[in-house]
Amino acid sequence: MVLSSIFSAALLLASSAAVADAQSSTAYATYINFATDDILNGDDGLPPHPLQGLPYGYPTYPITVDGNGREQVEAHLTFFEGKYWMHAATWGCGGDLFVYSHVLTDGNYPAIPVYKPGDYGEDGNCGIKTYSSVDFTNWVQEDFYQPSITVANVTKPVVRYSNATGKYVMYMGGNAFNNFFYATSDSPAGPWSNPPSVMQGTNINHDFDVAVGPDGTHYMVSDTFTGLNTRPDQWSVPIWDIWIHQLAPNLTATIDSTAVRIRTAQQLQAQNLTLEAVGFFYHDGYYYINFGFTCQNCAGYIYNYYSTDPLGSYTDGGFISQDGCSGQNKGANVLPSPDGPIVLAGNLGYRTGPTDVVFDGQLWHADNHQAASSTYFFPIEFNDDHTLKDYTCPTTIQVPLATNITTSPAPPTPFRLDCRVRNWQSIQAVFDPPKQGTTLEFDVWQRTDNLGPTTNAGPVLDGPLSVTLDFATGPSASFSWVPSNISWAPAKISMAIEGKQLAKITLTTNATNGCYGTLAEPKVEEAVTYGKVVNEVFTESTSAQLYVYQF
Ligand SMILES: *[C@@H]1O[C@H](CO)[C@@H](O)[C@H](O)[C@H]1NC(C)=O
Ligand SMILES: *[C@@H]1O[C@H](CO)[C@@H](O)[C@H](O)[C@H]1NC(C)=O
Ligand SMILES: *[C@@H]1O[C@H](CO)[C@@H](O)[C@H](O)[C@H]1NC(C)=O
Ligand SMILES: *[C@@H]1O[C@H](CO)[C@@H](O)[C@H](O)[C@H]1NC(C)=O
Ligand SMILES: *[C@@H]1O[C@H](CO)[C@@H](O)[C@H](O)[C@H]1NC(C)=O
Ligand SMILES: *[C@@H]1O[C@H](CO)[C@@H](O)[C@H](O)[C@H]1NC(C)=O
Ligand SMILES: *[C@@H]1O[C@H](CO)[C@@H](O)[C@H](O)[C@H]1NC(C)=O
Repeated sequence: MVLSSIFSAALLLASSAAVADAQSSTAYATYINFATDDILNGDDGLPPHPLQGLPYGYPTYPITVDGNGREQVEAHLTFFEGKYWMHAATWGCGGDLFVYSHVLTDGNYPAIPVYKPGDYGEDGNCGIKTYSSVDFTNWVQEDFYQPSITVANVTKPVVRYSNATGKYVMYMGGNAFNNFFYATSDSPAGPWSNPPSVMQGTNINHDFDVAVGPDGTHYMVSDTFTGLNTRPDQWSVPIWDIWIHQLAPNLTATIDSTAVRIRTAQQLQAQNLTLEAVGFFYHDGYYYINFGFTCQNCAGYIYNYYSTDPLGSYTDGGFISQDGCSGQNKGANVLPSPDGPIVLAGNLGYRTGPTDVVFDGQLWHADNHQAASSTYFFPIEFNDDHTLKDYTCPTTIQVPLATNITTSPAPPTPFRLDCRVRNWQSIQAVFDPPKQGTTLEFDVWQRTDNLGPTTNAGPVLDGPLSVTLDFATGPSASFSWVPSNISWAPAKISMAIEGKQLAKITLTTNATNGCYGTLAEPKVEEAVTYGKVVNEVFTESTSAQLYVYQF
């Protein structure tokens, strides 16, 4: 896909002032960006790259109400028809994004190995999921949209409503050479038109976002390919022009008479800025454009422009984060609240590992597959002069609810991914006393090892996941899942236990090229023990337990 970020992130806001407003009857949802406690004591099978580290806390992984992983690799939020909506790219089918370096000056990509599609789904295009929630906490999966890769590689979904056509439009990006795709639906829940269509217009490729003015007029910003690059070697990165267009009332075409190039690549080069992964929004009389640092799958700075006119001219607001809070900027999400609109910045929290590529003392590419990553949401806060405050990278945020919910929902559980099932190591959960059940369901997932920037240890694990259940009495039971039947994002597996007393769950594999994982949660039950077994020696993770959806 594209060399630069496939990701652009979004932005959010819950003002701390609003949160502190104890008088109000507003209900708040808690959204977790990072866990403050390391319930797995540094041993989760997913060590970050030392240059990235985990400066703000431990990455968590959210679930839907049915106990499956909530895939929100590039998640955008909206509020329509009295509900919150999240449209997000998924990498659960095992898509990889390899990078050797960056675009060469002649515009060609360096050679990267071509992997056959993984057994699990289609390579490189896992599709888009639509989730809804009334309380911004309990999310329901509404739709799974997966056009064929021969038709479109869909990612970076952003949804807007066309008053003129009565249709919701889902924009999807985007490589540097083709206009964005879109699909339409009568509902934000989908189903989305399939195959997707291609937007009509000019200067709309690579990354984008869509701001909505107070009169309902929509504007698209796009940072488009120019051929200009930063360096004469393979570490070069493209420098994009920045264009804004008003969109036609059907929202699927630009109005070309409004085209304005607010910055040229040459202007950005003169400022030593490389900007992509854009968020664009209107707030209180001003339009804001927030850009991330140009780097494929990298965390980096966030830079801002602002203007009272959506078509410019734009003033440089400067850097509002030096490190993107360890993520990449990914769009701006304007949501209603009882005290007026708020803006949440979406931010893509890439997973990194020790073998990720480093250039010039900087991490240039995170893991080749990002199913284990999530989107952080940070409140955008405004100074009295309408400029933006610097990001503070909060571990959790409070989102004032615009729905008819009057009691703040309980915060979600800070689930952690635990990828310690290897051919020399198993994961075990012990129940003492045993637990009676009818159907045992918990989440598992897989991940092949990154061997370097262009190399993975294969597109899928090379051995099955085995689960052995020991009961208080009687013989144990064994179950096995072929790798092609295991998602790269947490998804439930199910085993009939027919009223028996379950004493122990053991997860093992003979796979040699990666790990199978579970979801771990903070330990709350005294009667359960969770940990790893190596050479028949059990080591307890004393602060964690296996997340079991049901017994
Ligand atoms: C709250 O709003 C939702 C969505 O419009 C609706 O389905 C639900 O019935 C409402 N609940 C109450 C208690 O009014
Ligand atoms: C989508 O990506 C795949 C894998 O990189 C590629 O083979 C295919 O041509 C792409 N499809 C389109 C429509 O660009
Ligand atoms: C939406 O369309 C209706 C008529 O179809 C019109 O009355 C209304 O003003 C429009 N709203 C906006 C925001 O354009
Ligand atoms: C959307 O509106 C533009 C401008 O009126 C028009 O050229 C285009 O054909 C419309 N697109 C569709 C799919 O109707
Ligand atoms: C340009 O910006 C990069 C950070 O993106 C920085 O490392 C470098 O020192 C800057 N170069 C100059 C000449 O300011
Ligand atoms: C793991 O065992 C399965 C049979 O259960 C076998 O097909 C597979 O080749 C084995 N994998 C390895 C890496 O030995
Ligand atoms: C895949 O898993 C599901 C349930 O988890 C099971 O019903 C199905 O038989 C499995 N398929 C294969 C090919 O193992």
